[in-house]
Amino acid sequence: MIGLEIDGRPVRVEAGATVLEAALRAGIEIPHLCHHPAFPPAGSCRLCAVEIEGLPKLEPACATAVREGMVVRTGSPRVVEARRSVLELLLAEHAMDCPVCDKAGECRLQDYHQAYSLAPAAYAEDKRRRDKKVALGKKLLLDRERCVLCTRCVRFLERVTGTAELGVVERGDRSEIAFFEGRPVDNNYSGCLAEICPVGAITDADFRFKTRAWFLEGKEALCPLCGRGCNVFLDRHPGHPRTPGTDRVLRVRSRPNERVNGHWICDIGRYGCGYLEADRCRNVSGPLAADLGLRSIEDVVGWLAAHLKALALKGRRDRAVVVLSDWLTNEELFLAGKVFGDDLEFGRLHVVGRRAGEPDGFLLTAERSPNRAGPRSLGFRPEIPRLEDLTGEAETLLVFSPFLEEVYSAAELKTALARVKTKILFTPRVDGLIGLFDLVAPTVWPAEKEGSFTNVQETVQPFEAALRPCPPAVEEWRLLVALGRAVGRNPSFYLSMKGVGDIRRAMP
Ligand code: FES
Repeated sequence: MIGLEIDGRPVRVEAGATVLEAALRAGIEIPHLCHHPAFPPAGSCRLCAVEIEGLPKLEPACATAVREGMVVRTGSPRVVEARRSVLELLLAEHAMDCPVCDKAGECRLQDYHQAYSLAPAAYAEDKRRRDKKVALGKKLLLDRERCVLCTRCVRFLERVTGTAELGVVERGDRSEIAFFEGRPVDNNYSGCLAEICPVGAITDADFRFKTRAWFLEGKEALCPLCGRGCNVFLDRHPGHPRTPGTDRVLRVRSRPNERVNGHWICDIGRYGCGYLEADRCRNVSGPLAADLGLRSIEDVVGWLAAHLKALALKGRRDRAVVVLSDWLTNEELFLAGKVFGDDLEFGRLHVVGRRAGEPDGFLLTAERSPNRAGPRSLGFRPEIPRLEDLTGEAETLLVFSPFLEEVYSAAELKTALARVKTKILFTPRVDGLIGLFDLVAPTVWPAEKEGSFTNVQETVQPFEAALRPCPPAVEEWRLLVALGRAVGRNPSFYLSMKGVGDIRRAMP
């Protein structure tokens, strides 16, 4: 470890760190635009200049390694004057169209402009007009008047995806970001460019003009769309009070986690959250609900408990089949094993996974479920059994999976399910499958509940609910606890399960 002093404060940091990293870790803000923690220093914006005792010139904090006994000043009059000059030069060619810029509210340049009171502009010359809407790929737009040439986008494409679609061409004030050999940016990580652009030069076509950044609440979540379990923020708009249905997730951003996804997420995770909007609010439905008047989840649990107990009493346990999914949390799988396996002694419990897709060699895995490794650690074997093995001889079928229709064809399912007397589906999703079941009870997506997933690297990742469940939809763990109380041999065990934390503590 190295000891140094920054603005009169003693700071300790590991050898090899830069002055900027040491300051940021100590909670001391040094303005910076081109620095990104995932890349080596570029030293191009010069905003991070600091004064170091014993050195004649100001030094870029992002490109200067710490030394023992170093004394750094980040806010001396000389430093502030230099920063103001750099900002004036950056803004001399900047569009200054913040009122219509998607980055407004989360733009570093805008923040620094305010912090250093740089109004009005110091230059009388006209700004150079440049292209304001260059399509970089299917999802990205480049505004050259806003670009500050920090080259984060260029470095990302060189170092992270290795695709190098962009570079800097020309010299001096004619320099600009341009395509390399005319190739558009259409790789599976293109959305990261809009996220790492520190100003509003690269914007996301999907998010463009949808809302202002300050209306969004960034909720921590895990991406469920592959086995990596990338850490993300779901940027939720709380909705306009007089307009129903405007409470929506408008953007997905990466949340850094060095052990799992570094600083990035793929475009499938970034743009694939539409299911959260489409399928959230539904009711208990199906012919059984109509015949028996089951209107709430409590009604469903009561009826189901009586039905399953009767089946067990009649000695027909082998006629009950439970289909679980690797979209359920570890806690829910544990409870399902306890209720259906240990208490009711049903022998036919299956965890049916989604079909594998194409991995991309970086973050996206072939597995398309977030809890691929969790079921194994709980004694299940995720599989895609033959449909006959699921439905053959089955009298009652309970399905806790939103993806059966992806695994088996609709025609196959229709024929197979027609042979089963009582079919119950617990799902957060509205799809063609619903009409094939006698009872459909709405449950929630992972973002709407608490729990943990175990990713393909066997990393167990606990998570909190990012969104509120939409009543009457209910978390599967609540439903299983209620069922356990009604059918379990030891109801007090389930009575003590008041939250996911209690379930986690009871797990092996
Ligand atoms: Fe140091 Fe840009 S952040 S030069």
